[in-house]
Amino acid sequence: MGKIPQETIDRILDQLDIVEVVAEYIQLKKAGRNFKACCPFHNEKTPSFMVSPDKQIYHCFGCDAGGNVIGFVMKYENMGFPEAVETLAAKAGVELPRYDKRDEGESSLTARLYEINTIAAGYYQDNLGSGKGKGALEYLERRGLNADTLAQFRIGYATAEWEGLQKYCAARNIPAEILRKAGLSVQSEKGKGDYDRFRKRIIFPIFNERGNIVAFGARVMDDIGPKYINSPETVIYSKSSVLYGLNFSRRAMREKGHAFIVEGYMDVIIPFQNGITNIVAASGTALTPRQAAMLKKYADTAVMVFDSDQAGEAASLRGLDILIDNDVNVRVAALPPGEDPDSFVKKHGARGFEDIADKAKDLFDYKLDLLTQKFGGEKIRDKAAIAGEMLPTISRVKNAIVKSAYLKKLAERLGVNESALRDEMKKVKNDYSYRAVPETTDAPAPWNYVSSEIHLLGLVISDKDMFETMRTELGLHMFRDENIKKVMGVIEGIRVGDDTVSPGKVLSRLEGDERAKAAVIRAVAKADITEDGERVFRDCMACMRKENRKEELKTLTHMLKQAEKDRNDPEIRELLMKINRIYKEKTA
Ligand code: CTP
Ligand code: MN
Repeated sequence: MGKIPQETIDRILDQLDIVEVVAEYIQLKKAGRNFKACCPFHNEKTPSFMVSPDKQIYHCFGCDAGGNVIGFVMKYENMGFPEAVETLAAKAGVELPRYDKRDEGESSLTARLYEINTIAAGYYQDNLGSGKGKGALEYLERRGLNADTLAQFRIGYATAEWEGLQKYCAARNIPAEILRKAGLSVQSEKGKGDYDRFRKRIIFPIFNERGNIVAFGARVMDDIGPKYINSPETVIYSKSSVLYGLNFSRRAMREKGHAFIVEGYMDVIIPFQNGITNIVAASGTALTPRQAAMLKKYADTAVMVFDSDQAGEAASLRGLDILIDNDVNVRVAALPPGEDPDSFVKKHGARGFEDIADKAKDLFDYKLDLLTQKFGGEKIRDKAAIAGEMLPTISRVKNAIVKSAYLKKLAERLGVNESALRDEMKKVKNDYSYRAVPETTDAPAPWNYVSSEIHLLGLVISDKDMFETMRTELGLHMFRDENIKKVMGVIEGIRVGDDTVSPGKVLSRLEGDERAKAAVIRAVAKADITEDGERVFRDCMACMRKENRKEELKTLTHMLKQAEKDRNDPEIRELLMKINRIYKEKTA
């Protein structure tokens, strides 16, 4: 296979979450924003292996192994780069460009699965439109779906036949094997051929972000059997990385800046039909990090809309912290008892729904209210319990101002001292984050030039604004370490393409350059244990400016001496002016 285009590698990295991939190999435990484990690459008893969902890299503080998801698979599976990329491409549902006819069979499995799913969806849609689907169509009409919506969401019907889809596909020369791989048919136990997975059910195709059909959800019309049967996980379908409706909603999500998150298929479809077009469902699971990251690409604010039943609340609370980890603002809207978004919109229309959303509580208030209901909040012990649940959530909030406001509010609501809460929160942090880090990291001050460079890299690699500020106020030419300079160039290159930068992406562009890759890992690890990023950022820039001034003064003074020797008056004047300017800068 030829060289894999960078664009394809980026798409794979965008689609995958390193946490999920690594979790398939080793058991990860949540640790603050990150996940930790005992390092699979060296022997240890206390975990010093970290995986960062924000940065999309892993790093071991013990043996210094580190890299992006591709690097992890290469190391763990002992694979070469192309092989690891191919493995991950399949997982991500990204098709690798074909260079070689021989590869065609393998690399187009993804494409063939999309195709067979499209064919199957067409078959189910035809059923719905035919006499066989009369009952199903009536059911869907009763539930308020109009013809346009049925067509847009490609809703269909699987008849009661055991081999309906089998025969339909056989007549089109589609091998039984591919139906199995798509999860559409099931091999019978006695080996007597296959039967259709979905029978006598309404079919909801499940789309990926780009609108390819990756799976199906199938609902009974009577109340016999499980309400929904869904496709199994396949090469192109991973339940935890799909947000139902995202392909239809992502444009409106981006335009409006917020997204509604609901629970079920119908809770997406009915509001959508009524004009709420920025809505997605996590489909009956608590939100996963992967889903949260996908959402964040389109909207900064999530309005969680849940049934007011217990299950809804539990699910929403679990989802909250994951959203906060991804720096999504979270608001929670509670529907009246007994309603779900589907029934609510039918009763109160899109306007009513938007109203509820406007009144949605900030997640902080929502959680606090819920806890107050649960614990009471009068006794000291209750207060401690409430604080114990609120603080981990608050400590995840990235914006320092918001965080501080929350703390203040919590102190007021509980009637306790704010500084006591702050102390408690520090404990939360210590419990969660890098305990395993050996305390060898340099003290924050005084910054020397080398450590400033590495610290700056760690900060700007995941922060667009910081990178811009640094680029304009300092300039990339100020970096002396060749490796860091190179990495900065790579970051700039990605930014010029107006693409989001993550350490994972940067690493993928440094393939083969072990020293530059090591610099990235070192920098990111540093930034991870940096408490006050903004201050460190300023300090580092100031330090580099100062060092550069010193350096420049040295050179100029040297030149001045030479010019005095040569009695070159114009040159002397020029140099003195320059030297003066630098002195002025220094005292400014
Ligand atoms: N779900 C599932 N399997 C089940 C039950 C539920 O996968 N056995 C998922 C489905 O994605 C479903 C969502 O969880 O859409 C929410 O479940 P529920 O509220 O029970 O279903 P609704 O979507 O409200 O379906 P309906 O309104 O048709 O009853
Ligand atoms: Mn419902």
